[in-house]
Parts: sequence; structure tokens; C-alpha cells
Amino acid sequence: MRSKIIGLGSYLPEKIITNDDLSQKLDTSDEWISTRTGIKERRIANKDESTSAMGFYAAQKALAAACLQASDLDLILVATSTPDFRLPSTAVIIQDLLGAHNIPALDISAACAGSIYGLSIANSFIKAGIYKNILLVTSESMSAIVNWEDRNTAILFGDGASAAILSTSSDQSGFIDISLYADGAQQKTIWIPAGGSKKPTDAQALINHEDKVLMNGRETFKFAVRALCEAVEKLLHKHNLSAADISFAVPHQANLRIIEAIAKRLDMPMDRFLINLDRCANTSAASLLLAYDEASQAHRLKKDDLVLMLAIGAGMVWGAGLYRV
Ligand code: ACO
Repeated sequence: MRSKIIGLGSYLPEKIITNDDLSQKLDTSDEWISTRTGIKERRIANKDESTSAMGFYAAQKALAAACLQASDLDLILVATSTPDFRLPSTAVIIQDLLGAHNIPALDISAACAGSIYGLSIANSFIKAGIYKNILLVTSESMSAIVNWEDRNTAILFGDGASAAILSTSSDQSGFIDISLYADGAQQKTIWIPAGGSKKPTDAQALINHEDKVLMNGRETFKFAVRALCEAVEKLLHKHNLSAADISFAVPHQANLRIIEAIAKRLDMPMDRFLINLDRCANTSAASLLLAYDEASQAHRLKKDDLVLMLAIGAGMVWGAGLYRV
């Protein structure tokens, strides 16, 4: 049995911050950011656009696209690194907003790989016959965990949400396979030092911005290219496929140069990569489904297309999936 995506929905905050806007406050420029990352602008949430609120709006659209009611759902998964609260999970808040009472709901912590981890978990529950209709919400308020005085990170991220409903497939469409990986030795390549149980936030941590994202950009770049290429190569080999068989690749939208390096190594033309990071920047867990939904809305994907999904994030954690439209 296969699982497939039967509905998608997205939500982006209205407020746009351009590279020029950032260069008013930071020692940076549109030229530097565009050349090094491909990012031109990002959306930033207002006070009412919490992770749960954005996820709820995206979920409503995904339910409508799937022609389902909240009462048809069997499970809610929310992939996020920016939950509304440390307790309870954002998943239960979205469950309450949807009125999908009495069904299980849980958050997934897999940073920017939350999309691929979430899809794999939903796919596994469906294939095992445990649940039929699963809502996966990927929602991030990255602006809340970015140090706006740090030009190394502040330029990279944006806010937004996307959601997918997965259900049983009655034909060949759906997930062929998803491979997941983790390497905990990389736990400090991208991390937030304070605010957890090991180092609760105190006054000094706030002064040092230790409650915000710290990142080794160069290490992340090199690791991401190598890890994602190896994951894709293994997955294609396992299924006796080659890069030429892929209709579209939908990558986590971290940096255009990472995507270009992957395209080069896999020998895939860039026009087969679905990209929206120029307008959305890196929305962490939300980025993959945001790009996929956008391409789907634009009717770029046709029945029987073979789609490669790939994402990587802090951990490091990463994965690759093959999906038949
Ligand atoms: N504006 C202007 N100058 C800058 C900026 C900025 N925003 N940021 C850094 N610089 C400067 C540095 O200080 C450095 O100056 P120096 O040579 O005088 O010391 C110079 O630019 C080069 O800095 P590098 O860090 O070497 O620049 P690099 O080419 O590696 O680009 C970047 C940095 C864009 C962060 C890149 O390493 C990258 O994209 N890495 C991947 C990170 C990523 O994708 N993170 C996503 C988060 S997690 C995830 O999704 C997996």
C-alpha cells in the first residue's frame, strides 16, 4: 500500500522584508545576500501570526483541497523548531483550532528536515494501516529565534507554513520510498545554546544572544551538499533509477548555491529544481512543502511525474524521498 498527498495548503505572512530593508540595520547588502544565497526577500510574521496560527491557516487550505473535514482526520503531526510554547505541543493547539477533537497530535523536532521526517512518519503510519488520513503541518516563526544583529544568520531565514494531507493511495501514485538520516556529532553546527533544560535562559544568556540560532555556515554548506547527494544517490540506486528519471526535485530552500552544487553533482538541470527561496528565504521545516505547493498551484506537476524530495537541518538530520504524482 502507498500513501499519497491528497491536499496541500500554505500560508505566508503579509509583511515582506527585502535585502535592502535588512541592509538599513545590518552591515550587509542586497548584492552580498543575493550572490551568496539567492535570497531577495522573506516574509516576517506579525504578533497574530504565531506558528500555530499560520499552521492552522495552511491546514484549513489543505483540508479544503483534499475535500475533507477536520473530523475526517486520524492524526495531526506538526514539524517545527519554533513551537508556540515549550509545553504543550503546537500540534494540540492546531488540533483545538481545527476542532479535530480526540485524535492524537504531536510535534516533530527535526529542524529544517521536519518536512521529510514528517512525511516519512505519516507515510509509515498509513502503510502500516494504523491511520488513513493524516495532517502534516510544517510551520515556522524563524524570526523569533534569529539574532537580528547577526548578519551571518539574520539574512537567511523567513516565516511561513505549509500543510499536506496524506491518505491511502489506490493506484501507483504516492511515496515510493523515503530514507532518513542523522549525525549527532554535528549537534553544534547549527544550534541554540540556551533556553533548554541544560542551560535555561538567564540574563547573561540574553545579553549574549545565546537564546538565538548560532550557525557554522561553511560547515553547514559542505555537509549539506555531501549528505544530500549521498542520500539521493543511494535512494536512486536502491530503486534502479537515475537522475534522468526525476521530473522535478523539491529541495529544502536553504541556499541557492547549495541547490546548484547538488544539481551539478547529480547532473540534473537547475530548471528541474522547484525553488522559491528568492521570495521566502529559509522557512526551515516549512520550506519543502511551501515550494511543492507553489509548483502544484502553478500546474507544473503532471500525473506520473517522479518527484525527488530532499531536506537537511540542524542535528544534522536529513532525508530524501521519491514521490510519484
Ligand atoms: N553581509 C555581508 N558580509 C557578510 C555577511 C552578510 N550578511 N555574512 C558574512 N559576511 C562576511 C563574513 O564576515 C566574511 O568576511 P571576512 O572574509 O572579512 O571574514 C565573508 O562575508 C565571508 O563569510 P563566509 O561565512 O565565508 O561566507 P560564505 O560564502 O560561506 O557564505 C553563508 C555564508 C551564506 C551563510 C553560507 O556559508 C551558507 O549559506 N551556508 C549554509 C548555511 C545554511 O544554509 N543554513 C541554513 C540554516 S540550517 C539548514 O537549513 C540546514
